[in-house]
Amino acid sequence: MKTVYEVRSATFADLYKIMALYREVALNSGGIAREADEITEGYVRNFLEKSLVSGVLLVADNPSDPKELIAEVHAYTPGSKVFAHVFSDLTIVVRPGFQGRGIGKLLFGTLMGDIEKKHPEILRVELITRESNEKAIGFYESFGFKVEGRMEKRIHGTTGRLEADIPMGWIRPGQTWL
Ligand SMILES: CC(C)(COP(=O)(O)OP(=O)(O)OC[C@H]1O[C@@H](n2cnc3c(N)ncnc32)[C@H](O)[C@@H]1OP(=O)(O)O)[C@@H](O)C(=O)NCCC(=O)NCCS
Repeated sequence: MKTVYEVRSATFADLYKIMALYREVALNSGGIAREADEITEGYVRNFLEKSLVSGVLLVADNPSDPKELIAEVHAYTPGSKVFAHVFSDLTIVVRPGFQGRGIGKLLFGTLMGDIEKKHPEILRVELITRESNEKAIGFYESFGFKVEGRMEKRIHGTTGRLEADIPMGWIRPGQTWL
């Protein structure tokens, strides 16, 4: 039987589950701009608080272990009024053993659907991904994000070389800009 994964909004009670998920991704999969020992409670608390106050944070529970999350995505407004129409610092992770099963697509599709319907004030969503993360770049493009440039030599790649970081953005369709 096909497993059904459900997406829900996170609460503060998810803090340690999110931390465990990020550590596992950093250790076994890569893709995020932090190593496992940098996934501290302070790091997770910071984006959890910001996302709950002025953004979105969605998670998927492991259907066979409720103590564990299998995926998380978040984004929030940068803080000042001039960026009140922007969701930034977007990060998505899927637990390594669960990648490639459509869970990222489900989670990201839910996020973008929520932004389109529940956050009409958000006109731009932005993120950064390293150039070697072709899977993530293709994934974001499939949701309408566009590559907006290259930040050369910005990030230490997995091979030990410096590589480019790729800024990507989604602009709400159908806007008439002044
Ligand atoms: C990137 C990530 C979130 C994708 O989640 P996932 O659950 O593995 O992806 P899914 O199985 O839902 O893949 C869905 C879609 O991604 C896209 N995709 C996946 N691999 C792709 C590739 N190599 N090229 C282009 N598109 C790709 C496709 O649109 C695919 O859908 P389809 O094949 O059904 O048409 C996940 O692999 C992950 O957590 N990686 C590690 C952390 C990371 O890199 N996060 C992003 C930081 S910027």
